[in-house]
Order: sequence, then structure tokens, then C-alpha cells
Amino acid sequence: MTTPRIHISGLCKRFGPVTVLEGLDLDVAQGEHLALIGPSGSGKSTILRLLMTLETPSEGTIQIDSEDLWPPHNPSELDRAARAQQKRLALRIGMVFQHFNLFPHLNVIGNIALAPQLVAGRSAAEARQQAAALLERVGLGDKGEAYPAELSGGQKQRVAIARALAMEPDIMLFDEATSALDPELVGEVLSVIRDLAASGDMTMLFVTHQLHFVEQFADRVAMLDGGKIIEQGPPSQVLHNPQHERTCAFLAAVDLSH
Ligand SMILES: Nc1ncnc2c1ncn2[C@@H]1O[C@H](COP(=O)(O)OP(=O)(O)OP(=O)(O)O)[C@@H](O)[C@H]1O
Ligand SMILES: [Mg+2]
Repeated sequence: MTTPRIHISGLCKRFGPVTVLEGLDLDVAQGEHLALIGPSGSGKSTILRLLMTLETPSEGTIQIDSEDLWPPHNPSELDRAARAQQKRLALRIGMVFQHFNLFPHLNVIGNIALAPQLVAGRSAAEARQQAAALLERVGLGDKGEAYPAELSGGQKQRVAIARALAMEPDIMLFDEATSALDPELVGEVLSVIRDLAASGDMTMLFVTHQLHFVEQFADRVAMLDGGKIIEQGPPSQVLHNPQHERTCAFLAAVDLSH
């Protein structure tokens, strides 16, 4: 593999006495679409949250394009230069959450234009113009003035995707982006994600239980259990010919519940 976009090495995360990740190693290539699967509590969201710098590793390192997002030593005591580097790298990563997390008091354009103004220093006019273009892209060109409470779940999630894209990330993380949606709304969100994947060479990590989507869309699937990746490979292999008994049990359980 050429230099990976994301390089994770020896990553450990403990919450008090609970060990969630235990020496996780993972590389993600430029433009790769990686699906993370695994039972509840296996640490899938924790991996994404460590990438978003919403959590601090207990041990280990994460690099983006060979630069330390989390340096290997004393991650909780980053010096000023390391913090500045972390902030710069984290801005290249966008995340979409299960529960949308839109600001209820801002309309749709306001939600999308906020971070570009506050964090990227764009003018209000420029940020609003970009927000309108992104709304068109997710098929909601007519909803700019609406408030989150006036939108369906699928529409809210499409706004959340537009909001993440407004910071022009080149890595996107999706944490069960469709699991809070009524079944008839899942398709519209997946189709936006699919268009996004097809339109550029964005690197994408997604946590999902939608195995048919993983099958169509992932280049690679990584199965997490016990704080580690226990099996990984193309969907044809991991989903249809799993080698690990815990992968077999997990896939059977997901199939039954969907
Ligand atoms: N802030 C926290 N404080 C304490 N424990 C936490 C915290 N965040 C996560 N955990 C614990 O870490 C473990 C892994 O959580 P995580 O959310 O990463 O799992 P997950 O694989 O995303 O599960 P799910 O499929 O249910 O979303 C769980 O046991 C959870 O209770
Ligand atoms: Mg989770």
C-alpha cells in the first residue's frame, strides 16, 4: 500500500476499568470506503470519535497523511505545536452522527453556514452561498429557510451531511447515519452517500448494520470484537465467507434483526 491516508497503530482506549480498544491497528488508503462492523459496545463509535478528536486515546497513535493526529506519547498532554497540528488535521475530517445533531434554533442554511464562518473564517455571504449549493447537492434546494423541527428524519440527515461537507473534508465518517430513520427514509440518505462516494475520491469510514449497503459500497469490511479487528477483507469474503466464528454469529444476528 502507498502511504495510507489514515494510519492507526497500537490504539488503546479505556474508560475507567473498561477496555474498549486494545491495540488496534488499521490503515485506510486514499479514496478507500471502509465499513466497520461488530456487536454493540465493540468500540466502532469510539474509533470514529478518536478520529474526530472527541475522545483521547489511552495509548497508541493515529496519523493522517503521515502526520500525528494523536502522537504516541502522552496523548493527554499535547504541547502547543501538537495541538495546532491536531486541529489542522481534524478539520479535514467530517462526521455524520446517528442523531443528526442539528442546531434547533438555526434554520437549515444557518446550520450549514455556521462552522465555515466561525472556524474557517468565511464571510456570511460566502458561507450562505456555499450552503445553498450544498443543499442543492443533497436534493434540498428548497429547504434553506426551514428549521430542523420542520424536516423529516431523512431530510435532517441530508442537512447534516451538507453541514459536514461545508468544511470541505477529504475524509468522511458516518456513524450509523441511517439507523434512527424510518425504513422508507433510509434510501434517500444512502443515495446521497452513494453519490458523494461516486463523485470524488473521498476517503470514507462508515459504521452501519445495513449489510446490503456495505456489500454494494464498501471496498473493505473490518469486523471488530474484543477491542480488535478480528477479520477484514472485501465484502464478498467477510460477509459471505466469514472465517471467524464470532463474525458468523454477528452476521446471523444482524440478518435476523433487519
Ligand atoms: N464516555 C464514555 N464513558 C464510559 N464508557 C464509554 C464511553 N463511551 C463509550 N463507552 C463504552 O465503550 C464501549 C464501546 O462503546 P462504543 O460506543 O464505541 O461501541 P459501539 O461499537 O459503537 O456500539 P453500538 O453498536 O451500540 O453503537 C461501550 O461499552 C460503552 O459503554
Ligand atoms: Mg456506536
